[in-house]
Amino acid sequence: MKTYNIAVLKGDGIGPDVINCAIDILDKVAKKHGFAMNYSEALIGGIAIDETGNPLPDETIAICKKSNAVMLGAVGGPKWDDAPIRPEAGLLGIRKALGLFANLRPAIIYDALKDASPLKAKVIGDELDILVVRELTGGIYFGEKEKGKDYSLDTMKYSINEVKRIATVGFESAMKRNKILTSVDKANVLESSRLWRKVVIEVAKDYPEVTLNHMYVDNAAMQLVRDPHQFDVIVTSNMFGDILSDEASMITGSIGMLPSASLAIGTMGLYEPVHGSAPDIAGQNKANPIATILSVAMMLRFSFKEINAANDIEKAVNSVLDLGYRTGDIAIESETPIGTNEMSILISEQL
Ligand code: IPM
Ligand code: MG
Repeated sequence: MKTYNIAVLKGDGIGPDVINCAIDILDKVAKKHGFAMNYSEALIGGIAIDETGNPLPDETIAICKKSNAVMLGAVGGPKWDDAPIRPEAGLLGIRKALGLFANLRPAIIYDALKDASPLKAKVIGDELDILVVRELTGGIYFGEKEKGKDYSLDTMKYSINEVKRIATVGFESAMKRNKILTSVDKANVLESSRLWRKVVIEVAKDYPEVTLNHMYVDNAAMQLVRDPHQFDVIVTSNMFGDILSDEASMITGSIGMLPSASLAIGTMGLYEPVHGSAPDIAGQNKANPIATILSVAMMLRFSFKEINAANDIEKAVNSVLDLGYRTGDIAIESETPIGTNEMSILISEQL
């Protein structure tokens, strides 16, 4: 039987709660579609600091490199706020170590959850489906840093190749969708953005069917709440993508619902929910497992090409929402929320 090796990094806070559900769903869908999963657990984030003094132990990198894909829960929490090395360093480190340069963050409004959006119904319209493609291993996150006596320094640097490969992911994604790509930069101020724009225009020559727009990041932040429907795919640098993907996800009103994929060249990918570790509700059967379950669907689609299995999971999630079941984060006041495990079992039953 076809067997996929998966590194499982549960991490901190609600990470273990939601990953356990996602594994149940994955096992179920694997059985149905005739493939098998082989899981290897490894430490990352705060728990790795507690147990080894390092948020990203070498063993974790080795286990991930031997796997076909990585599932990650969440990292961080107030417990490590003053730690000399923070849990987040583990996340940045694994992105770099695995060459995960392309971060796909879909922001989708589910029909059953339209009321959850903080935007007016007339702005949201019928449906909203935006894909943020964020460059993940370059830019100001990874540029030269310096801590002087009376100054600190971070450097934003992009090479032509770094921009080319993420722009290509942006265009390829747009080709599979509505063929509109918005490249977001700050080319009126930053040299690295002027290079970004030049390279994106070059790559566009290979995609004549895609309508390419350029937008400054400040304007993009405004346009996202003014008229989100003008966007299909957004491609942008590491830090701008960090900020805009949070904004885009909040428009949907359901950050507990949104999955993400971080892809390397080839089929290796890391899949995690967009939400954080929510330490205040960890271990209480309150977290929404849907973002992680949908991340597993992205893994099946992007790393394993098990498209039918991926579609099945997405359909099952939709059915459970249509039936009216809600975890606390997406429930409206009059509804009684269900727990993490109940949500997962309901989705499993739909499968
Ligand atoms: C994200 C997070 C991370 C980032 C943090 C936790 C380092 O905000 O994945 O968006 O800034 O990339
Ligand atoms: Mg972020």
